[in-house]
Amino acid sequence: MSQFHDDPARSLLDWYAHARRDLPWRRTRDPYRLWIAEAMLVQTTVTAVLPYYERFLARFPDLSSLAAAPLDDVLKAWEGLGYYARARHLHRAAQQVMAQHGGQLPADPIALRALPGVGEYMAAALGSMAFGRDELALDANVRRVLARLFLIAVGTRQERAELRRRGEALLPRGCAGDFNQALMDLGAAVCTPRRPRCLTCPLAPHCLAHAAGDPEAVPPRPRRRALPHYDVAAAVIRHDDGRLLIAQRPEDGLLGGLWEFPGGKCEPGETPAECVRREIREELALEIEVGPLLTTVQHGYTHFSITLHAYLCRLGACGEPRAIGCRAWRWVRTEELDDYAFSAADR
Ligand code: ADE
Repeated sequence: MSQFHDDPARSLLDWYAHARRDLPWRRTRDPYRLWIAEAMLVQTTVTAVLPYYERFLARFPDLSSLAAAPLDDVLKAWEGLGYYARARHLHRAAQQVMAQHGGQLPADPIALRALPGVGEYMAAALGSMAFGRDELALDANVRRVLARLFLIAVGTRQERAELRRRGEALLPRGCAGDFNQALMDLGAAVCTPRRPRCLTCPLAPHCLAHAAGDPEAVPPRPRRRALPHYDVAAAVIRHDDGRLLIAQRPEDGLLGGLWEFPGGKCEPGETPAECVRREIREELALEIEVGPLLTTVQHGYTHFSITLHAYLCRLGACGEPRAIGCRAWRWVRTEELDDYAFSAADR
């Protein structure tokens, strides 16, 4: 049982000393390994990250190996984890660190922030965990815990600034890395969005939302708008020799650099079969014969959902594809499909 302290940070650190999750990135101070962990953990749960983390590090054991790898290999190691911009940013940042910082992730906060994919949260997480700085890493879990502790609604800019100021005032000097991760663990296991387990919470004696009687109501949940839904059509184009045509998405934007069965979003009034014919003309300058519907796949992204209609197709009269609306294309045998990084819906 954790002891009661006047100081919430002490209560929290006492709790963390026995309740902390034993996670692979907590057994290292290596900035590179911590950076990979934090990049993977953005918008992603610990459970989802665990199978990727060691595999990624076995494939790219240090920053120079990541920088030297083709982007395709990095995306392949990231396949299924989502938010692929994170992988593209890591790769570009690794190349920048090789070119500008002699291969060592810079400790300097301004230099860190200048790297692709390193925002305020990531810089503070690395600052505290890898470089021992007294910085507060405010992710969604930490924000919720502190919002309850201080009973701050965090709706307005002023409230967010107030939350940060009060959180920073709590930072125990010299152990901000543990403090941040303790808040993360508390947010994941105890101070959960719904039905927080206040009876076991080391911060309960200090917590204003708990004292007010309804911690679950803090911070107020924004009402979710219904997400838009799109119909998307894709062509599984089969060559006479059995190979399939795959295309690589442009590097910027959603799923950038991933491979797919070419296609795209249906326009208003267009059937999926008409859509796929148009998309293949626009992306690859090919005329196709659209055959039977192979399958439909439902998939949800952060800001919308899709129904993917996949058609078996054959080439029409004219020959070679041209990459006019994609990064590249390949004819591949089915057993080679595994060598390419695909989005979850296409996989
Ligand atoms: N989420 C983001 N960073 C984390 C960390 N270091 N430990 C646990 N969860 C996290």
